[in-house]
Amino acid sequence: MNSLTISSPAKVNLFLKVLGRRRDGYHELLTRFHRISLQDQIILKKIKKPQFRLITTHLKLRSVRKNLIYKAYRLLKNSADWQGGVEVKLRKRIPIAAGLGGGSSNAAHFLLGMNRLFGLRLSRAALVKIGAQIGSDVPFFLYQTKEAIGTGRGERIKVIPCRHKLWFVLVVPQSGISTAQVYQQLKAAPLTRISADATITSAFSRGMRKKEKGHRLHNDLFPVSSRLLPQLRQIDALFDQVGAPERLMSGSGPTIFSIHPFKEEAEKVARRIQRLKLNAQVFVCHTY
Ligand code: C5P
Repeated sequence: MNSLTISSPAKVNLFLKVLGRRRDGYHELLTRFHRISLQDQIILKKIKKPQFRLITTHLKLRSVRKNLIYKAYRLLKNSADWQGGVEVKLRKRIPIAAGLGGGSSNAAHFLLGMNRLFGLRLSRAALVKIGAQIGSDVPFFLYQTKEAIGTGRGERIKVIPCRHKLWFVLVVPQSGISTAQVYQQLKAAPLTRISADATITSAFSRGMRKKEKGHRLHNDLFPVSSRLLPQLRQIDALFDQVGAPERLMSGSGPTIFSIHPFKEEAEKVARRIQRLKLNAQVFVCHTY
């Protein structure tokens, strides 16, 4: 095998609660990740020279060293050995700095792809250890599951069953938001104790089962993100106007998405939003 083509899907957070600020500066979270069909494509190709090459047409991703795929490559080099180098072609469709985990997904799928292409035989646990050093959202994508609960920084994953295929309308404002800036401005209380993950997760899963129909849509980061980008409050309110009351911001934003049981309903809502000619991109996608 000389090359490998991989799809690198995005995520939304169906729930995000900040439990407190940790001593290391990160925040302790309880979140529900849901994988969606909006995706980038990554093509890995073996090359003779022991080099890393990244080819992408996206202007904002021209700086290779800042790319999370490069970070993944550097960390992987410390944990595994292989002959030759790799050329990575990245076709970007997931908007950048949008709260959709695009960069994290790229890094995770690069690791999974390298493991296969070069027969590195790294276990999932080993990959997750590397992934957690790249970013808090990376481990979720390494589990290759539709849905999971994230605790810790978001990097501790418990896979949960995903019973229904959902449809989403994503509205992505043109300006991105820096996750670090959102957390910096969050007035979260320091954690007095770190709750036992197992307890939280099982209580959470029980709550989810009970309220399966009416999703517990909640995101603690929305007040901060909408202060940084006031357009978010307008977009949030527009969802009511277009008949999509079930909506939420994903991650630290700025993407706001609505949830629908059927494709037709999602497409109708997307058409209504598109007619409003917002300064934002609109995507229809589904559970993946
Ligand atoms: O982990 P990641 O690199 O994606 O996080 C980006 C920034 O967001 C971190 O530098 C940190 O400031 C903040 N963050 C946080 N608590 C989390 C996740 C991220 O404070 N659970």
